[in-house]
Formats: sequence, C-alpha cells, structure tokens
Amino acid sequence: EKGGYEHFMLKEIYEQPQVIKDTYRGRLLADQGIIKLGGLEDHIHRFINAPRVTIVACGTSWHAGLVAEYIFEDWARIPVEVEYASEFRYRNPVISEKDVIIAISQSGETADTLAAIKLAKQRGAFVYGVCNVVGSSISRETDSGSYTHAGPEIGVASTKAFTTQITVLTMIALRLAQAKGTISTRDYMLHLRELELVPTYVSEALEGDGKIQEIANVFKDAANFLYLGRGYNFPVALEGALKLKEISYIHAEGYPAAEMKHGPIALIDEQMPVVVIAVNSNHYEKVVSNIEEIKARKGKIIAVVTEGDTTVKELADYIMEVPQIPEALTPLVTTIPLQLLSYHIALMLGRNVDQPRNLAKSVTVE
Ligand code: M6R
Repeated sequence: EKGGYEHFMLKEIYEQPQVIKDTYRGRLLADQGIIKLGGLEDHIHRFINAPRVTIVACGTSWHAGLVAEYIFEDWARIPVEVEYASEFRYRNPVISEKDVIIAISQSGETADTLAAIKLAKQRGAFVYGVCNVVGSSISRETDSGSYTHAGPEIGVASTKAFTTQITVLTMIALRLAQAKGTISTRDYMLHLRELELVPTYVSEALEGDGKIQEIANVFKDAANFLYLGRGYNFPVALEGALKLKEISYIHAEGYPAAEMKHGPIALIDEQMPVVVIAVNSNHYEKVVSNIEEIKARKGKIIAVVTEGDTTVKELADYIMEVPQIPEALTPLVTTIPLQLLSYHIALMLGRNVDQPRNLAKSVTVE
C-alpha cells in the first residue's frame, strides 16, 4: 500500500509529478491555448463580475490560498482576500450576493471551512470548492468547483494536496485572466506550456533528495528554524515551517524575508538555521541582501536556489537546487525540497512521520 516507500508521506511526496499531471490532464491543452475546467466555465461570469474573491481554508490549504492570491491578482487583476476559515466564520464578514468565495480543502471535511461556506451562502455569495475527496461534505455544500486529482492522501502532513491545489488555482487564474483580457497572449501561452512541464521540473527537484538528507543530518538537533521567502514564495516559507513543526516537533517560523528586520532578526545567532527561498525572481537581489544580513549575524543559511545559481551559492552554507521556471510557478518546485527536509529530519529524530502526535488527518471539530 505504501508502494515500496517507508512512509505514506514519502510516497506522496514522490507521487507529485504524476498527480500534478492527473490534475491538469484533459483540462489544460497547452498547444491549443485552452484551459477548460467544467465547474468554472458555467459560472465564469460570477468570477468576472465579482468585486473580489475571498479564499477560505485552514492549514496547508490556506497556504495554497495565499499563493493563489498572488497569481489571481497578478494575472486576472481581481482583488483577493485569504482568510482562515475559523476567523472568517465568527467575524461577521462583509459579504454579499456579488461575492465569490473559494473554499480549499483536501479532505472536504474541515469543520471550520464548512462553517465558513455555510455563512457565505447565507449571505448570497457564490461558493466554489477546490477539494480532493470526491463527494466530501465541502464538495457537496459548494455551488460549483474543481477537484484536485491527488488521489488518497494518508500522511497527516499534506504534501501532494498542496501542489495539486496550486495547479488547479493556477489554471483558474489563467482562465480568468484570458477571459478578462488582463494577460498578454504571450504570457498566457508561456504559462500554459510551462505548467505542462511542471511534472518534469518536480521530478528534477526530487533528485536533490540525497543531498537534502545530508543537510537534514547536520541540522536535525536544532531547536528552532526560521523560513524566509518573498512574493510567490512567502507562502512557501510558511508551508515549509508548518511541515517541519508538525512532523519533527521542532519550532519553526515562516516569515516574509523583509519582515525579518522588524523583529525575528533578534533570534539569529550561530545556533539558528535559516531556510531562505532565493530562486530567480524579481526579488532576487533583495533576498540576497536578506541573506547577507543573516550571515552578518552568524546565522546558518540553507538556501533554495535555481540551478546554476552562483551568488547565493557563495553566501549560503548549504543549497538545495530547483529547476528554472517562470516566477509565478516557482512554488510548485520550491516546496519540494522543504517537504523532503522535514521528512528526513523527522525520520532521523524517530518521529511518527505519518501520524504526528496530537494531529488528525481531517479536523472535523472546531
Ligand atoms: O483537509 P483540509 O485541506 O481542509 O485540511 C486543512 C488542514 O487541517 C491541513 O492542511 C493541515 O494543516 C495539515 N496537517 C498540514 O500538513
């Protein structure tokens, strides 16, 4: 049942090239410039006329929502708010008939997300689901939606659900951008073609596993970790930190890299490993300065870099390489080494990787 892997989590990490492909198969026709999501086409006017889109989710699904915020706003020029379902449901949110809500949930059973959907529906909003489990409560409660095709996710730590959620949300954003005319044909076509290549890029990222294991061995006894990223990779920093804390029980915090100087920089000393996502992007130079600031305070730098990078490679103590890919799609590859790093650290510490203490796979109570 674990397909020869020692744990479900590892199997699920390695399944990502396949399940990302399963998720876009039949929906993405890159050569013809077509994205076709059944649940979206019938309701596309709702999205186009919405004053904004509010995303509700919890945990890792909430992180996928944060990635979506960047791509929706960038390409489709629709304002996006990303809300913890547990806060949204108790806040008397300003929601009306014109609003569109996207609820993201692997299990489709998360109690807070379900309650947020019910509240939004009472106020007349249109609710779109991005779920993995077919026929789940959330998929039944939403007005329409698109499934991720990740297959069963058994490990409590969500891995393939995250990357397939981003795949679906990326397709939605591209389709809306095309319908609204807010993306150039060149950019639209480029991202379609690159999205189709993501499974290959993810496979390449997985090849770094051996090296990541060595890095895990160096840092497994650290008491704290800091994860930093900017732009599209700020949510990936949050997700990397969540993965580490939930399965290894090491305290970890994710931060937007530039926020470091507003507080967390005080934590940095020679004992503090800092994982920095420093791939090619608009913010590359800025991230390099953030790395220099950490180095000046003797922090240990583990950087996720684009293959062929030289600048960060010189500054960092350890690097984890991912292939070059357009910036908006980088979360799909930068997430991979962070999943592997947490997995190996947890394993080396003798943790129960698939069933961490105090956690359940689906949180059906509030
Ligand atoms: O099934 P859902 O996507 O609604 O679950 C949401 C969170 O409970 C879930 O992502 C949780 O944070 C994971 N254990 C993270 O790995």
